[in-house]
Amino acid sequence: MTRAIETLVWAGVFVLITIVLVFAGIRVGTDGPLIVTGTPSERDAFEWRYVTYPWLAYLHIVPGILYLVGAPLQLWRRFRERHFTFHRRFGRVVLSLGLVSGVFALAFGVPFAYGGAWQSLATAVFGSWFLVSLMLAYRAIRGRRVRMHRRWMMRAFAVGLGVGMIRVWVGILAGSQLLPLEQSFAPAFWVGLSMHVLAGEAWLWWRPNADGLPRNAKADQPSK
Ligand code: HEM
Repeated sequence: MTRAIETLVWAGVFVLITIVLVFAGIRVGTDGPLIVTGTPSERDAFEWRYVTYPWLAYLHIVPGILYLVGAPLQLWRRFRERHFTFHRRFGRVVLSLGLVSGVFALAFGVPFAYGGAWQSLATAVFGSWFLVSLMLAYRAIRGRRVRMHRRWMMRAFAVGLGVGMIRVWVGILAGSQLLPLEQSFAPAFWVGLSMHVLAGEAWLWWRPNADGLPRNAKADQPSK
């Protein structure tokens, strides 16, 4: 049963990462030619913000994609245990990519939200939670608090993966014509990201000891 649930969760992770990759591909395909040729986009087009502020947008998207693709390797327990030196080195890279993407999620997403003020607020709340989780994960591992490190890394990853869930909700809300595309963004951000924060907490509650430490090791105790 445990194995079946884990397999299902990993399948979900794969699907959500694929969704994010597809949307990133669409972005590059749409914005790339305009940015490279210096062609301005129409003011009310979706891509206007991406084409007008490419540095802000792509310093969010490119490190975010690399973070999202790299993080599962870091969280995969068997790989981590077999390649611990790689885990430590690659971890610094993945964490830095996550931080850069998170900072630019705020710099781009708060002032230039397609869906208006409620989307900006969701970006500020969940983007800050993403950054705080990464920073606390780093602080924990510097203090050799392995269990705490894993918990904060899981929380950050849950939010990062939530980016795929936002697109699912935009698809549901706008695709079923419940809301126009622009108005579907804010609820999709709130519902999609809240779901992922809660799912992350549920996972940590269900698998509190999946970090390879002895079952009775305390979360705030430095590992030996
Ligand atoms: C860490 C992994 C992340 C990846 C791979 C990622 C990827 C992307 C991509 C591909 C887009 C373009 C979306 C599109 O064209 O449909 C985008 C936009 C955006 N992202 Fe992220 N993102 C990540 C994390 C975050 C986080 C943590 C937040 C904050 C909650 C965030 C907030 C935003 C916002 C506000 C936009 C602009 C949406 C709009 O067009 O109005 N992202 N991201």
